[in-house]
Amino acid sequence: MKVNEIDLEKFLKSVLPEPELYEVLITAQNISEKRGEFLYFAGGVVRDYFLKTLYKRKVPKIKDLDLVLQGNLENFLKEFLKKVKGESLFKSQFLTYKVKLDLNGKEFLIDFITARKEIYEDVAKLPKVFPSDFRDDILRRDFTINALLIGLSFPYKGILIDLVNGMEDLKEGLIRPLHIYSFIDDPTRIFRGIRYKVRLNFEFSKEFFLALERCFEKSALKKLSGTRLANELKLYLNKEPEKNLEKLLKTTFNLNIFEKAGIKTEKNFFDSIVRHLKELKEELNNKEKEKFFLLSLVSPESLQNACRLGFSEPEIEKIKKHLEIIKELLEKWKKLSLWEKIKVFERIPVPYLLALSVYFPRIRKDVVNFLKKYRKIKPELTGDELIKLGVNEGKEIGRLLELLRKEKIEGKVKTKEDEKNFIAQFLLNKSKN
Ligand code: CTP
Repeated sequence: MKVNEIDLEKFLKSVLPEPELYEVLITAQNISEKRGEFLYFAGGVVRDYFLKTLYKRKVPKIKDLDLVLQGNLENFLKEFLKKVKGESLFKSQFLTYKVKLDLNGKEFLIDFITARKEIYEDVAKLPKVFPSDFRDDILRRDFTINALLIGLSFPYKGILIDLVNGMEDLKEGLIRPLHIYSFIDDPTRIFRGIRYKVRLNFEFSKEFFLALERCFEKSALKKLSGTRLANELKLYLNKEPEKNLEKLLKTTFNLNIFEKAGIKTEKNFFDSIVRHLKELKEELNNKEKEKFFLLSLVSPESLQNACRLGFSEPEIEKIKKHLEIIKELLEKWKKLSLWEKIKVFERIPVPYLLALSVYFPRIRKDVVNFLKKYRKIKPELTGDELIKLGVNEGKEIGRLLELLRKEKIEGKVKTKEDEKNFIAQFLLNKSKN
């Protein structure tokens, strides 16, 4: 066990995103010392601190704070929440509590974690957890660079503890699992490792590849649940800088992870997926982005695989139907009018439509224009106004609004005045017939 004294105040001031948190942590420190329980930081916050201070690397500001207690967390929090403004939001099955603090009106979340030991009884299944000491808590972790600890209270206050040569790996820029069965226990660590490699521009150690081989031998990735697999892939999208996405996908593909997880994926789609996400950022909500992203990772020839990423059977059947429709239209795509294309697109949910345009580049430009422009074009006149202009109530209103929309999309009608004239002309023709 390597121990080194550090400047605790400097560490706290550097890592805490809000200065008000300093006092809160001193309160937590005092309570843990009074109770004789060891409180410490571990994981990303310690890793990023050393990357920043020792190696002058740029690291993102932390958004959430993890604090670990070797002791009775429930009782600790009861005392803690008497002294600071905040509340415990929920307790997880892994002996952790999410606490919301009120820092003079500003909200901040801290994850309080019980120092624990994990026992993996089954390949790729969630572990059983037991309260334990800081040693077990460090040794249960994914990579050496995430297994550094900084003590906030007695007996290791202001002490950096390095049980697994994490500092050395930080210096060397290496992603090293703590043992070669690590990915059998928890295959999600492979995706985490890939994120760290790309984010920090590190390399995989040889143990990473050994652990990967072991994981493949046991088919552990196939045993990982669809929800957990999808969640890990969504983190590529939601937790990492946008510019890293293509590299993340390529690294995952080159390590053969998709195939081993039961998804046939096409490497040459990656560029198109990334471009779509960039180009249509403003047009899509987060759910749509995620669905599109996951679906387009599945090759169109093996859409059945989408069930590995959380798509239900009926959903897959629907996607297949839309795919067949587009496939049939492809031959004569160029001959279709803009309005005809729009009518096809409108029937397809946005995430599926985007994935189809990755599968079939011929429709790509039209899909982008549809989402960015045409789907937003609507007549200015309302149903009520049409009635005032003399249109009969009932189905005709809907038909005319749709007709106005078509005229507008085709550029034949531009202003509200044009719309009124169009309706007047329509009514005139009608009265003549
Ligand atoms: N961890 C692990 N295995 C997992 C998930 C998490 O060992 N499958 C451990 C790691 O030590 C990690 C810590 O739990 O450092 C906290 O996980 P998380 O909050 O996801 O990561 P951070 O450490 O905060 O790092 P970052 O968010 O920057 O990825």
